[in-house]
Amino acid sequence: MQQIINDVEIRGAYKKFGSNVVLGGVDLDVKQGELLTLLGPSGCGKTTTLNLIAGFIDADQGELFIKGKRMNGVPPYKRDLGMVFQTYSLFPHMTVYENLEFGLKLHKVSKADCARRIKNALETVKMTGLEERYPREMSGGQRQRVAIARALVVQPKLLLLDEPLSNLDAKLRQELRVEIKRLQKEVGVTTIFVTHDQEEALSMSDRIIVMDKGKVEQAGTPTEIYANPRSEFVFNFIGKSNCLHGSIASIDTGMITVQLENGEKLLVEAGNVMGEDRSCSIGDSVKLYIRPEKVAIGSIFDPEYDPHTVHISQMNYLGSAWEILASFQGSVLQVQCPDIEPSWMIGSEVKVGWKPSDVMLIKR
Ligand SMILES: Nc1ncnc2c1ncn2[C@@H]1O[C@H](COP(=O)(O)OP(=O)(O)OP(=O)(O)O)[C@@H](O)[C@H]1O
Ligand SMILES: [Mg+2]
Repeated sequence: MQQIINDVEIRGAYKKFGSNVVLGGVDLDVKQGELLTLLGPSGCGKTTTLNLIAGFIDADQGELFIKGKRMNGVPPYKRDLGMVFQTYSLFPHMTVYENLEFGLKLHKVSKADCARRIKNALETVKMTGLEERYPREMSGGQRQRVAIARALVVQPKLLLLDEPLSNLDAKLRQELRVEIKRLQKEVGVTTIFVTHDQEEALSMSDRIIVMDKGKVEQAGTPTEIYANPRSEFVFNFIGKSNCLHGSIASIDTGMITVQLENGEKLLVEAGNVMGEDRSCSIGDSVKLYIRPEKVAIGSIFDPEYDPHTVHISQMNYLGSAWEILASFQGSVLQVQCPDIEPSWMIGSEVKVGWKPSDVMLIKR
């Protein structure tokens, strides 16, 4: 059997700044060659985790291993890492070539080897020909490409990227996402990518670690995180969702019936209970979550769909789809659909439906 090698292992990392607990017992593994994303809201401890791996801070408790070696107390320059920060971190008074040469000189690489490696690194990020430019003479996207090349040129054991795209416009972000993913696979370097943007995380990562308040909420592939969120936090943080309040009216084999506050009944597959307490009894107050793209609207649905009636209150064109806001038993239901029917107007009564397997339940 092939052994899975972890390039990074963090065990029970605990860190306090003053009285503020910033990491409350973080455990995580990064597998060899993968692109792992740390995803979570501002202040949840992503940069702190990265700084711990890079050696810029020490944990108060816990252990860190890189390629099987215990790293507690080892200074950053002995960890062999490449890092790209959120704010541009190029030396402003050096050309592109000099920026890349800097780290190689510290590693005492010969002049000829430097030239060869810089050429390769700039080719990889598609920046050949800009060797003599200064950072101020380049666009934001070009500067971040050079920053990535500078991190890669020293052939690091690990590449750490802290929100490297957050200062760029939407189109450039999209372009660089694709490029970083391609580059990472081409070079094969184990990479930890930090972002608070869920779309970025879903589209780029081999695996995602969702963090909240200094703790790991869930680790998994993008599809696992999106389709099987383990907690309400993960469900809400990743993607859009509709939330409805009610109480459990009946429990049958495989199916739970929830009555909303105004009488309407919804079906939930029994396996779809989230949260720490998954035991359910009749009368329990619950919240139901349904993703907007799981709601079918207007047309005739499969018999397995749970059908309901709504009134349209807004229709928003998003380019690739329509977002319909509909009033449903006193709540607003968001629906995402590719097209609208010509007869629909504000106030129209339309049918909606969803599969009971697409409804998630959590106790209140
Ligand atoms: N050197 C420090 N001294 C005191 N508090 C700090 C220090 N560094 C970080 N913190 C605090 O630790 C918490 C986590 O910070 P961290 O930078 O890890 O968050 P983050 O997840 O990277 O957030 P963001 O998405 O905004 O970059 C925050 O509350 C922050 O204010
Ligand atoms: Mg940060």
